[in-house]
Amino acid sequence: MLDIVKMLEEKRAHARLGGGQKRIDAQHAKGKLTARERLEVLLDEDSFEEFDMFVEHRSTDFGMANQKIPGDGVVTGHGTINGRLVFVYSQDFTVFGGSLSEAHAEKICKIMDQAMKVGAPVIGMNDSGGARIQEGVAALGGYAEVFQRNVMASGVIPQLSLIMGPCAGGAVYSPAITDFIFMVKDTSYMFVTGPDVVKTVTHEEVTQEELGGARTHSTRSGVADMAFENDIDALLQVRRMMDFIPSSNREKPPSRPTADPADRPEMSLDSLVPENPNKPYDIKELIHKVVDEGDFFEIQPDYAGNIVIGFGRMNGSPVGFVANQPMVLAGCLDIDSSRKAARFVRFCDAFNIPIVTFVDVPGFLPGTTQEYGGIIKHGAKLLYAYAEATVPKVTLITRKAYGGAYDVMASKHLRGDVNYAWPQAEIAVMGAKGAVEIIFRQDIGNAEKIEARTQEYADKFANPFVASSRGYVDEVIRPHNTRRRLIKALGMLRNKQLENPWKKHGNIPL
Ligand code: HXC
Repeated sequence: MLDIVKMLEEKRAHARLGGGQKRIDAQHAKGKLTARERLEVLLDEDSFEEFDMFVEHRSTDFGMANQKIPGDGVVTGHGTINGRLVFVYSQDFTVFGGSLSEAHAEKICKIMDQAMKVGAPVIGMNDSGGARIQEGVAALGGYAEVFQRNVMASGVIPQLSLIMGPCAGGAVYSPAITDFIFMVKDTSYMFVTGPDVVKTVTHEEVTQEELGGARTHSTRSGVADMAFENDIDALLQVRRMMDFIPSSNREKPPSRPTADPADRPEMSLDSLVPENPNKPYDIKELIHKVVDEGDFFEIQPDYAGNIVIGFGRMNGSPVGFVANQPMVLAGCLDIDSSRKAARFVRFCDAFNIPIVTFVDVPGFLPGTTQEYGGIIKHGAKLLYAYAEATVPKVTLITRKAYGGAYDVMASKHLRGDVNYAWPQAEIAVMGAKGAVEIIFRQDIGNAEKIEARTQEYADKFANPFVASSRGYVDEVIRPHNTRRRLIKALGMLRNKQLENPWKKHGNIPL
């Protein structure tokens, strides 16, 4: 018995060394943590329970029969984050470059299957040279097994991907299906085809970093939700985010006590919106001032800045915020912001997280770039997402709510549960000047007449009262009371029940 225990400990120690000290040193030299070090940072101390430490690949070609490393390039299991169960896999670049073999994929699939059974999130740390080249189609099959599980788990358990090294070729599609992608600056990249193939096919010369680094994907493509300075920063922020989301679609998000009074007035909000309707202001100031303890976890902060999305808590309960940002493109909706917000609204709806929407939108961004890029379909995504969402939806129009964008932004007509407006709200088909230039085109040469008509239109619509007289706005509220009013509305909606008609699935305009 003692011998076997000794053997077990030796085998464990060998497995923990992965591809060996030399390769671990090389990993560190690149500024990266090893697969196991990452798990130590991500999970609560001593909470990690490992599976399949001794799994080996089964390939024999290209001398692989005598190159077996226990664990086969991925560390899998479960642990806790602030006491809550999560399943994890962490690819080990020191073992065959973290490449995915059939056995490596089976390990990932096993923890995904367990996570689905018990209703807990899956967090994947990707650091891999892609399909195990020596294995061929068996590795490709392994990827597809993971993809299928990603799709089945979508909307059932939260799935989160950290990209902490290479992630190329078809391998990108597993993270792409997951709910959030966090990347690490300078050490991670994602692309479907690398710089060499790009050069051959399109004659473009581009570095790995430019093509698929963390900055590219968090600012230009929108593929990544966040980019962090290093592994530790990324892992700690995942811990922070997990506190806002439930473990599965069967649960409510985790609430926690707060010392921030629910009725806290915020007098400075009375002067947040400038007198001049064309002057911008920072909508994030409103979010920070209404959430508990000013704690707002922004998602995609560097992409499509004309809309702000993220998590905060109201009276202890997590809420998803969606807000037009007047500081960027005057808060217009465009292709990128519509896609960004639509996916977030659907995440919140899938996981029972109430949505608070702050509206200050002059309309959709005009132009050929937008039309040729398909703003019609992309804008419809946001409309569809809000319309199908059954979670509590509380909306506040702070200033402009014009045109189709008024309808889209969680209006009463899209089953907004409680729709508030601040006194300076303007709710109309379009701005007064544009409206008059169309309906009084014959008077355009007559400045005096045009001015009078513009004033007349503004007097009629540059206020929240027409909409409130029809019940489209439930209540016009004073800005300094916003936190109290939102919390009351969310509290009233806590046990909201609403179901959409049975269908196999809808057909969101993709
Ligand atoms: C087997 C691999 C491997 C792979 C790397 N290694 N990628 N082994 N299969 N896919 C091994 C290397 O042989 C090396 O072994 C070790 O991992 C580290 O690799 P290096 O090249 O020394 O590291 P580095 O210089 O940092 O370069 C990393 C890299 C490069 C850019 C990822 O290794 C690379 O280009 N690999 C091949 C990538 C690729 O083409 N993959 C297939 C993509 S197609 P030793 O023993 O020397 O330490 C694909 C399809 C998926 O993935 C489809 C899904 C549907």
